[in-house]
Amino acid sequence: MEIEVQPIEKSKIDSIDFENLAFGRVMSDYMFECDYKDGAWQKPVIKPYGSISLEPSARVLHYGQAVFEGMKAYKDDNGDLFLFRPKDNWERINKSSVRLAMPEFPEEYFMEGLKQLVNLEKDWVKPGFGNALYLRPVVFATEAALSASPASEYKFMIICSPVKSYFSGEVRVVIANKYSRSASGGVGYAKAAGNYAAQFYPQKLAHEKGYQQVVFTDAATHKYVEEGGAMNVFFRIGDKILTAPTSERILDGITRKSLIQLMKDNGYDVQVREIEVEEIKEASRKGELKEIFTSGTAAVISPILGFEHQDEKFELPKIEDPFASKLKKMLLDIQYNKVEDKYGWRVKIS
Ligand code: PLP
Ligand code: COI
Repeated sequence: MEIEVQPIEKSKIDSIDFENLAFGRVMSDYMFECDYKDGAWQKPVIKPYGSISLEPSARVLHYGQAVFEGMKAYKDDNGDLFLFRPKDNWERINKSSVRLAMPEFPEEYFMEGLKQLVNLEKDWVKPGFGNALYLRPVVFATEAALSASPASEYKFMIICSPVKSYFSGEVRVVIANKYSRSASGGVGYAKAAGNYAAQFYPQKLAHEKGYQQVVFTDAATHKYVEEGGAMNVFFRIGDKILTAPTSERILDGITRKSLIQLMKDNGYDVQVREIEVEEIKEASRKGELKEIFTSGTAAVISPILGFEHQDEKFELPKIEDPFASKLKKMLLDIQYNKVEDKYGWRVKIS
């Protein structure tokens, strides 16, 4: 499938400082766009990155009918380009779309859109661990109409942003005991735009106290740890690694499931089960809580150095050779084509 490319006049790439990138601030030269109308996805196009026009009555602005994905393109030392488990992102965006009563996007458009876009932008993908071109597929309701019902017109886009790390500096988190990002029967498992808006206020309160993320607990009782606002979470007690099971409230993270697989295959004691906040606090008091780390496409694997819960503060010990670093290396070795990929996760795109 050949996608029409409307060429840029001049690339912005020479004006970009690739060593100092705040996450998601710089966009590459091109974007992918495909409209849905009259019951069908229309012909996609790759065009210069830029503003789009939307009527003020577009449903997305009023009712938040929008879902997105987060992916990365990686470059190895030979200049070859790779995606990581892209089919999983395609499946997940469609699962999200179905939940928000939006049309599913065809696999061929998704895969070819990504491949042709990343190929055009190959100079924006820098080699070396931590460097990547972050890819943001997004679908939203463009139909101009104010009745609160699903739209009949949508736009699917992919935009690209060169990135390094998501967090700058040390990361500490608040474990929530009042606010929730999702509830049973809701949209927590979908990558719905509104899930993020819903957690910005608790995140703002956490920031004001010097914390970078909120780790949410179950909405019904606030007794069990679920996930971060934009990442899944793992806890190491002794040599045991715990993470919450996915559910209708939790995003089925692709990094999370890859890590669980890597841990199982490399002899780690990984346990996917409900985790009580009290269990974590108790382990911390006894000195048995060795590590907390988050996982996600944007955040990769980030160690958490401390947490607060109900105004009680906990600091993690400094340890030699953390599991998080070993697991991160295993994952990056696959993503950056340093080792054989026995799982078939890495997809070469050029
Ligand atoms: N949980 C939430 C709420 C997220 O936004 C993300 C980021 O995509 C994740 C978990 C991690 O998912 P993945 O590893 O697929 O990026
Ligand atoms: C990702 O990890 O790709 C995400 O979508 C997180 C994002 C909200 C920054």
